[in-house]
Amino acid sequence: MKPLVRIGVIGGGLMGREVANALARWFVLENHPVRAELVAVCDVQAKLLEWFRQVPTVRQLTTDHRELLANPDVDVVYVAVPHQLHEPVYRDVLQAGKDLFAEKPFGIDLDAARRIAAAVEASGRFVRVSSEFPFLPGAQRAFAAARSGALGRLIEVRVGYLHSSDLDPQKPVNWKRQSVYCGEVGVLGDLGLHAVHVPLRLGWKPASVYAQLQRIYTERPDGKGGIAPIDTWDNATLATYFDYRGARTPMRIELKRFGPGETNSWFIEVLGTDGGVKYSTKTPKTLWTFRRDKEQIWDSTDLGFQMVFPGITGAIFEPGFPDILQQMWAAFLAERAGQLGDRFGCATVAEAVASHEIWAAALESQRTNSAVAVK
Ligand SMILES: NC(=O)c1ccc[n+]([C@@H]2O[C@H](COP(=O)([O-])OP(=O)(O)OC[C@H]3O[C@@H](n4cnc5c(N)ncnc54)[C@H](O)[C@@H]3O)[C@@H](O)[C@H]2O)c1
Repeated sequence: MKPLVRIGVIGGGLMGREVANALARWFVLENHPVRAELVAVCDVQAKLLEWFRQVPTVRQLTTDHRELLANPDVDVVYVAVPHQLHEPVYRDVLQAGKDLFAEKPFGIDLDAARRIAAAVEASGRFVRVSSEFPFLPGAQRAFAAARSGALGRLIEVRVGYLHSSDLDPQKPVNWKRQSVYCGEVGVLGDLGLHAVHVPLRLGWKPASVYAQLQRIYTERPDGKGGIAPIDTWDNATLATYFDYRGARTPMRIELKRFGPGETNSWFIEVLGTDGGVKYSTKTPKTLWTFRRDKEQIWDSTDLGFQMVFPGITGAIFEPGFPDILQQMWAAFLAERAGQLGDRFGCATVAEAVASHEIWAAALESQRTNSAVAVK
């Protein structure tokens, strides 16, 4: 029998439920080194815990995360709470001697991220950070093409992640639009690690950033008949440079809550002198690859269920968000078991801190209207 990993979730909101979904159908993965079960859930809103009673493996429901951390039957803790709580709750998880699957942005700002990273180092626990889009087959193919070196000299890179639900001015405010809970970084912290996970894995960390940040609506209904201020950044376009084989190479990073028509578009585009690759979740089956021949040709390839961790699903079918979330968990638990091999791994603590270094430079760039070095 494969070893069983028992998982606790702190924060049973949007992402806590998605993780319950991914773990509940773990048996669809073939040849994964471990079994995984959700055994405990904590949320301060007792009414949210009721939903988790449907999950047969869950044995503990609590409104106090310290009770969950005291449970000796929990091996790994996934934390999905507002950003101002990342640092204290992540520290508590580490102090309890549990491994941690952290949510992005890994602390409310760069200082918090660095303090959490130091606590991780001191604890010796296994810690990774959530970022699931690179587990899409199209993203994996783009990563492989970019890493191969076969694209020639890099001309430019574009990565991004775009939403549009904020276009509705009547959408009530929530914690993600208020600095005290989300961080001043706003959209950078919310969507940013998703966009830069692949570039950072390729070693393409920006050396400098020029940021155009926008706050589009400055207030929203508070959901109680009043109006609440919005004080986080909504849209970000970052013009960055990174070093590729000694050449200063431009990378544009786009992160938007106001992207008309973009419901949840994650994309990567890498253009070189000898080849190129483009992938977007807007057309989630289609991978575009460029070749320079007698003519210049963009080929489109229809992808199916070619996952990092194969499962029962036939290769012609399309993957979706719940599938890539499960793939990310498969990578997390395989790496924890020392069996990731050469497969793509989850975002590391160093990558999460590096993303915050980019966002801190972007905030400084916005303040000074100048390009800022990433430290
Ligand atoms: N990986 C992704 O695709 C993705 C998507 C959305 C959000 N996120 C991240 O996940 C985290 C949570 O976001 P969400 O969208 O699930 O938010 P959410 O508001 O839906 O859920 C957060 C939950 O945390 C609970 N909570 C607050 N304080 C708590 C405490 N002290 N102890 C226990 N529970 C507490 C709240 O009651 C709420 O139910 C954030 O870090 C966010 O950036 C990741």
